[in-house]
Amino acid sequence: MKGTLPALLLAVGCAGVPQAAPLPPVEELPVRAERPDPLLMLDGRKVSTPEQWMKERRPELKALFQHYMYGYFPPPPGNVKAVIERADAACFGGKATLKEVTISFGPEAAPKISLLLVVPNKRPGPAPVVMGLNFQGNHSVVDDPKVALPKVWMRAGAGVKDNRATDEGRGKQRDAWSIEASVDRGYAVATFHNGDIDPDRHDWTDGIHPHYFKPGQTQPGPHDWGTIAAWAWGLHRVVDYLVTDNDIDPARIACFGHSRNGKTALLAAAFDERIALALPHQAGCGGTAPSRTKNPKAETVKVINKAFPHWFNDTFVKFDEQVERLPFDQHCLVALVAPRPVLFTNAVEDQWADPGGQFENLKAADPVYRLLGAGGMDAAAMPEVGGKLVDSTLGYWIRAGKHSTTPEDWKVFLDFCDKQLKKR
Ligand code: GCU
Repeated sequence: MKGTLPALLLAVGCAGVPQAAPLPPVEELPVRAERPDPLLMLDGRKVSTPEQWMKERRPELKALFQHYMYGYFPPPPGNVKAVIERADAACFGGKATLKEVTISFGPEAAPKISLLLVVPNKRPGPAPVVMGLNFQGNHSVVDDPKVALPKVWMRAGAGVKDNRATDEGRGKQRDAWSIEASVDRGYAVATFHNGDIDPDRHDWTDGIHPHYFKPGQTQPGPHDWGTIAAWAWGLHRVVDYLVTDNDIDPARIACFGHSRNGKTALLAAAFDERIALALPHQAGCGGTAPSRTKNPKAETVKVINKAFPHWFNDTFVKFDEQVERLPFDQHCLVALVAPRPVLFTNAVEDQWADPGGQFENLKAADPVYRLLGAGGMDAAAMPEVGGKLVDSTLGYWIRAGKHSTTPEDWKVFLDFCDKQLKKR
């Protein structure tokens, strides 16, 4: 069949993860101007049953995303340990318990995650939780002078001096997290600074990278996984912990992230079925928006690879001038989350994140959800700005305004969680 490739033979390593699959070089991939059909295997076979999706196409897509874009995830480390450093039951005037938890894993010297977990005190049973990365440290999301400051390199921002967190940053991201409002609605919130896993700069010598090997590599050194994959893998380690915490309902773990952290939230959900629902907010290129964008104001693959060369693997840059050769587009990443719910939220002035292209991506993932009997995207056209939340299994919402996270956004996230997590 013209334009198809031989079936993907996965060489499966001892840990059961695909290793160095014999995939064609970028220049030999077929050119496809439109989004590839998520239900069409590389060898041209059409997926027609849920079993075929789960056993054949889903693993194929996971291998493709790792090989051509995000890099390979190392296997789960298996030695995750958690130490509760502090638990304060008087948070928000006694409405919640705030815990600071150190999560360690992997080789002795690998970085550790400092998790902030806030759990409602009054609740009918274990709480659902919204988990996500923060940009500027746990101390920035609550007003609490005791929360530890991250010690690692940090991008510039409010209260950041010489790329280090300071006390001035305390509470500065409070509105972007709305933790008290989440507690009032019965949700726990879990978050850590993305730099705990990998500082957000083009440097493979810091963070988790020097501690893990690339498939086939025999000497220690930088793995070919980019920073977004490393962050997602860090979220998986938080899930390792959350499923052991009796305050948390392991069946109701939602994953949120804004922008680069939203790209990460979607990737994390795609590769970890313990994540019940994904909330990638204004995540854009390399996450929720199409690489084959038709929006002249949207970020492109070439631009993102130039500005943030560390976010993806070494291969993704080869698509800069030929995104039509990508054997997937970002609707396939959504499809990897199926049958679990996904909500894309946007702002109309944030065309950089391509809100229209994101809506089309949800529609393009819909056939996979339908095949699995999980519902899909119920809206035929994009909803109006500031209008009703489309709360089908594939959900969408767009508000007025800019690239930011507001209390209004959190209301929508939790409305979607209320509806979709109830089914579990
Ligand atoms: C830049 C980048 C986006 C990213 C955003 C963010 O604008 O181009 O891809 O989503 O930063 O993370 O805030």
